[in-house]
Amino acid sequence: MKSLKVFAPATVANISCGFDVLGCCLNGVGDEMLISLSDTPGVRITKIDGADLPLETDKNVAGVAVVALLKELKDTTTGIEIEIYKKIKAGSGIGSSAASSAGAVWATNELLNNPFTATQLVKFAMEGERLASGNAHADNVAPALLGGFTLVRSYNPLDVLKLNTPEDLYMTIIHPQIEVKTADSRKVVKPNVSLKKAITQWGNLGGFIAGLYTNDYDLLGRSLEDVIIEPMRSILIPKFEEVKTTAIENGALGAGISGSGPSIFALSKGKENANKVAKAIEAIYTTTGIAFDIHVASINANGVTAI
Ligand code: HSE
Repeated sequence: MKSLKVFAPATVANISCGFDVLGCCLNGVGDEMLISLSDTPGVRITKIDGADLPLETDKNVAGVAVVALLKELKDTTTGIEIEIYKKIKAGSGIGSSAASSAGAVWATNELLNNPFTATQLVKFAMEGERLASGNAHADNVAPALLGGFTLVRSYNPLDVLKLNTPEDLYMTIIHPQIEVKTADSRKVVKPNVSLKKAITQWGNLGGFIAGLYTNDYDLLGRSLEDVIIEPMRSILIPKFEEVKTTAIENGALGAGISGSGPSIFALSKGKENANKVAKAIEAIYTTTGIAFDIHVASINANGVTAI
């Protein structure tokens, strides 16, 4: 039996100005998975460690993503066994389901001698997101597979781009240990947007992407504004405004909801600043009585990797 062990990274989706289209991949925060070829055809989840998640293939995000990949190949003979060692909590807002589906399809593709490019794998991993949240968004699975910052230029047809990453960017993530299911967090988002807000939002998204390519940290900071989603969702996150304001007062370029929450991200220039932000926001959450984790992570240029 041939096996591959992979690191399946956490990701930050939306990044304030790019709801459902913008995301980035993190170093050092993520799951491990062991994917093995088996002589028995079909996809099986053989072990899940660290989380209470379904072992049934059709109820597991990694399972459905690999089934979608094999279906595209019209492959009915390959057997795939998946072991998942979860470190990212479900409902944390840092791409827990995306890590599992991206890790599983990436490793399966490797074991099958790469019939697909990493970009082509995005649509299979999206099936995991469809199962997890009822919506096949790609803003976590794309950066998990491609690394760095990614943009979903279009969903129909799917057009995913890997963007430039300035060298000195660091994310501080605070994860309050309350579960906010993406499906629930999407329900609070109203489907219509005023033209005025849309103009602000697409100006910011364009500005953010321009900042990534010109290494203009100031421009990145100015563009980290969300006038559409954040006002609707932030009420689900205790101390959100205080954390955001404190992060910026302590030198962060900007801060916002990580994915669908409850995690909050702050983007900083330099590790030292990211650590300073971590200390300042930690002090706020210590007063709440809510358990929390804090991560300081650089941007992961590679996405899923063999370990
Ligand atoms: N773009 C998605 C959302 C990401 O905000 O619902 C979910 O992690």
